[in-house]
Amino acid sequence: MSRLAVIGAGYVGLTTAACMARLGHTVVAADIDADRVALLSKGEVPILEEGLPELLAEGLASKRLRFVVGAANAAPDAEFVFLCVPTPQGDDGSADLSFVEAVAREIAPALRPGTVVVNKSTMPVGSTRVVERILAAAGASIEEIGVASNPEFLREGTSVRDFLEPNRVVIGCDDPSVAVRVSELYRGLKAPILVTDSASAEMIKYASNAFLATKISFVNAIANLCEAVDADVREVVLGMGYDTRIGFEFLRPGPGYGGSCFPKDTAALLHAAEQAGYDFTLLQGVVDVNRRQHERMVDKARDLAGGSLDGVRVAALGLTFKANTDDLRDSPAIHIVRRLIEEGARVVAHDPAAPARVLDLVPGLELAGDPYAACAGAGLVAVLTEWDAFRWLDFGRVAAELAEARILDTRNLLDPAAMRRLGFVYEGVGR
Ligand code: UDX
Repeated sequence: MSRLAVIGAGYVGLTTAACMARLGHTVVAADIDADRVALLSKGEVPILEEGLPELLAEGLASKRLRFVVGAANAAPDAEFVFLCVPTPQGDDGSADLSFVEAVAREIAPALRPGTVVVNKSTMPVGSTRVVERILAAAGASIEEIGVASNPEFLREGTSVRDFLEPNRVVIGCDDPSVAVRVSELYRGLKAPILVTDSASAEMIKYASNAFLATKISFVNAIANLCEAVDADVREVVLGMGYDTRIGFEFLRPGPGYGGSCFPKDTAALLHAAEQAGYDFTLLQGVVDVNRRQHERMVDKARDLAGGSLDGVRVAALGLTFKANTDDLRDSPAIHIVRRLIEEGARVVAHDPAAPARVLDLVPGLELAGDPYAACAGAGLVAVLTEWDAFRWLDFGRVAAELAEARILDTRNLLDPAAMRRLGFVYEGVGR
């Protein structure tokens, strides 16, 4: 078992730290936010992530997991340092590595010979070498320190399960002996471990996310076409999915993808392609379809409302970028709600998990404590996030609350026939 430092206790870092402690390693996790560190040290998880509170409690109790403020306090004594800090999207679409650079500079003097620095955050191809250079410039003896790429493939909401039961583990390093040392950390897992060079590992992450985004934009484009030719996209996807080369997964039509990864990673890959002189029109199309898909939902809302949203009260069900998370980053729901308000609608939203600061993100938005209150007097209901609770609402009561029984189901969560039987004018996506 090894001694690990995990720098950054956000979604990725916290999951990595807690899961590595579960695998038997001793983990010191660092964050710059002292309040967050205090909270975590008490066993309180500031994010909504299934299984994480239990793993955190287990790690703290076994003393295999502890939290400190500042990267420099976690690095000494560590055999492996995992970098899990944000790599946000820069103004030109490229990934902004300033947090990574700051951490590398901070930890460099504290690293012992033989330590391996592992890039866990999504970083552009070439970043492993960039981190190597920064460490060397900041005084680390780079002949004695390894740097490897070990991209995460965690979905928010199921990240603990994704970490402990991965489809695969990818480790990239130009020194195979270092990669093998990193791979040993995962010995307890039943998953194929791919050891490759650093650039390929970095590309695997971007290519995987770009491919998944492509599936979503593809199915959204098919859904839009289904509407024009009177086909039902749900039947179409069923018929496609039985072909094992295609499969059923990631072909759910909706308001377009969002979240902290797909929009940012597709933009970064497009930027990288441009830098490399490759015209990646296919991926540009994926991004364009996605942007238009958000707007298409606004068009549907306007049509349902009879041609104008001005003065229409809309009940928005869901604000997070998908169900089972409290994350609002790049949420299609937020985009849609903003646009509805821009067009003069009065939007009252309910989301089971969205933090109250959503009100700062969307000026003019109002919140209701439950879905029925959101619907009271509204002329239109828009289901924007696929929370299971919305599926099981008493729609007879919803209809009674509404001024007009009209429903826009951007997630195809509901049964159109059942809705119509209850007297709703129903609009979904691609059916
Ligand atoms: C994603 C990747 O799945 C993960 O491997 C990577 O490490 C980080 O990014 P995440 O952003 O948590 O994970 O969410 P995911 O469940 O993949 O969904 C992303 C977005 O696509 C959501 O907005 C979701 O609603 C949308 N989506 C997903 C669809 O619209 N249709 C689908 O069929 C699947």
